[in-house]
Amino acid sequence: MKPALGVCYYPEHWPEEIWTEDAARMAGAGLTWVRIGEFAWSRIEPSEGRFDWGWLDRAIGMLADAGLRIVLGTPTATPPRWVLDKHPDMLAVDAQGRLRKFGSRRHYCFSHVGYRKECVRIAAALADRYGRDARVQAWQIDNEYGCHDTVLSYSDAARDAFRIWCAQRYQSPSALNAAWGNIFWSMEIDDFDQLDLPNLTVTEANPAHAMAFRRFSSAQVVAFNKVQVDVLRARTDAPLIHNYMGREVEFDHWDVAADLDIASWDSYPIGFLSDRLIETPEFKARYLRQGHPDMQAFHHDLYRGVGRGRWWVMEQQPGPVNWAPWNPAPLDGMPRLWAHEAVAHGAEAVCWFRWRQAPFAQEQMHAGLLRPDGVAAPALAESVTVAAELAALGEIGLGAAPVALVFDYASAWGWNVQPQGADFDYFAVCFEAYGAARRAGLNIDIVSPDCADLSGYALVLAPGLMTLSAALRGALERFEGVALLGPRFNSKTPEMAIQLPLPPRVPGLDAVVSRVESLPPGCDVPLAGGGSFYRWFEHLEGGEVAELTTDGRPAILRAGGLRYLAGWPDPEGWDRILRAACSDMGIDVLNLPEGLRLRRTDPHIVAMNYGSEAVIWNGVAVPGAGVVWL
Ligand code: GAL
Repeated sequence: MKPALGVCYYPEHWPEEIWTEDAARMAGAGLTWVRIGEFAWSRIEPSEGRFDWGWLDRAIGMLADAGLRIVLGTPTATPPRWVLDKHPDMLAVDAQGRLRKFGSRRHYCFSHVGYRKECVRIAAALADRYGRDARVQAWQIDNEYGCHDTVLSYSDAARDAFRIWCAQRYQSPSALNAAWGNIFWSMEIDDFDQLDLPNLTVTEANPAHAMAFRRFSSAQVVAFNKVQVDVLRARTDAPLIHNYMGREVEFDHWDVAADLDIASWDSYPIGFLSDRLIETPEFKARYLRQGHPDMQAFHHDLYRGVGRGRWWVMEQQPGPVNWAPWNPAPLDGMPRLWAHEAVAHGAEAVCWFRWRQAPFAQEQMHAGLLRPDGVAAPALAESVTVAAELAALGEIGLGAAPVALVFDYASAWGWNVQPQGADFDYFAVCFEAYGAARRAGLNIDIVSPDCADLSGYALVLAPGLMTLSAALRGALERFEGVALLGPRFNSKTPEMAIQLPLPPRVPGLDAVVSRVESLPPGCDVPLAGGGSFYRWFEHLEGGEVAELTTDGRPAILRAGGLRYLAGWPDPEGWDRILRAACSDMGIDVLNLPEGLRLRRTDPHIVAMNYGSEAVIWNGVAVPGAGVVWL
């Protein structure tokens, strides 16, 4: 595969006189893809049924004439004001019952039937015009589902749709009552119309109710996406893409992606470290201008899985963003490193967000490849360098991964509904397991909770997996490597009840979790072999004990290649446990200098230094914020 670079462009933001020069500069910089249109509904259809195609025709023509390949977005993340006037009840409502109003973006409720019809209409109009146009070579549907907390809506439209969804899922009110345990606190209903959404209850809602609402809300995103997929498929053969986010778990990306051809995601390393990761102040200071060394790779591997092998970075941070609590500038070299890292993980394309910084509106403080005055910003030169380097590298094959990490969105909802400890977070427990494998220099695949075949892997990690699917159970039974399972593994039914017989119900392991405890900061359970469990600890009965805590309680159980972890290992614990498992399987692990990460491609090893100072690895100097292909 030959990876390409691209950029996000908003011709509607700029006078037409500069489009041609913009396009020529893009092409001259070695960019090949340009994404346009995803927020331009008010210019495409200024009032209902009155389309203005002229400007978009000219923009597409001019970009294509410069040799650029176009990704066209459906503009459904930004319905214009007249759409709202037509459907005044289409707005989402937050958990406190407040309307989420017009004046920014994503102001719609996924469940609103009238709005879905508007989306079908605008997507059909766009695809009727450009679906068979060879210049439009890919489509993006909507923009960042879930951004700005928009998956969960407590609107009347959502409530009505939830009742229908529950009627279909449970068939009768009594079956729903039984599934949720509604006898507890006399919460039984005898008509689906009595069902409300699980917000604004006096104290917590029934976790089964909350979990059902999470499943429903995810299904609404899938359905919302699917109606546009159907419209586009009938009108184009170009690949369909959505741009997912970093650390976004509110809907099931595996399910949305099943209807699409390519997964893409929007990578803002410095914003994410500041805004979305729990790390110490020292850590955040060390990587302030680089981003977390594992955050980008985690999502590259996740979305490669989600996209069934085909994935892009649709938006790549080029300089300071505007939306994090603090917005430092990247170290020189980091934009180049981020682009190379994506490519090393198999990205087909990496597109910068955005071409020119806009001097107006919400994102005026967000950098682009150009400054607002059109002068090159620092990332442009780095992009030119990357384009030349990629051309010189030629074909890049994906290296094999010995490690698979199971990632399950339903577990994220379940532990969000019922964390039991203030810091129990599904993304975090998976991300920390991933980090241990990365620090060991290993390639990692991220697989779905319905994965039916693990035979290509030597090591499987499934921390925090709430419910074990039949497919994954079968795969684990056949698996010949080492699987590290737990904590909280298979501990709930899909309806958020405790499994009976008691968990973990792992194939071949004759043991139960007899009691669980969550632990505040500083109250860790040290492990005899080194490291600790923190945040979560389970008391285990039965089974073959492979490891103890320092006070002699079971820490890890073993049944053949399956290992059950009684807690959430801290980084030292993870490093040790993972390395021991690798040694059992004959997988070579490395001790990398801090901040250095590797990715094996075919035929290269790519060494990326997230540290600010040069390090020597394997006799090679890797500069700070630098990347070397070996
Ligand atoms: C993304 C979004 C873009 C832009 C960008 C700014 O979340 O898709 O439209 O807002 O963030 O960093």
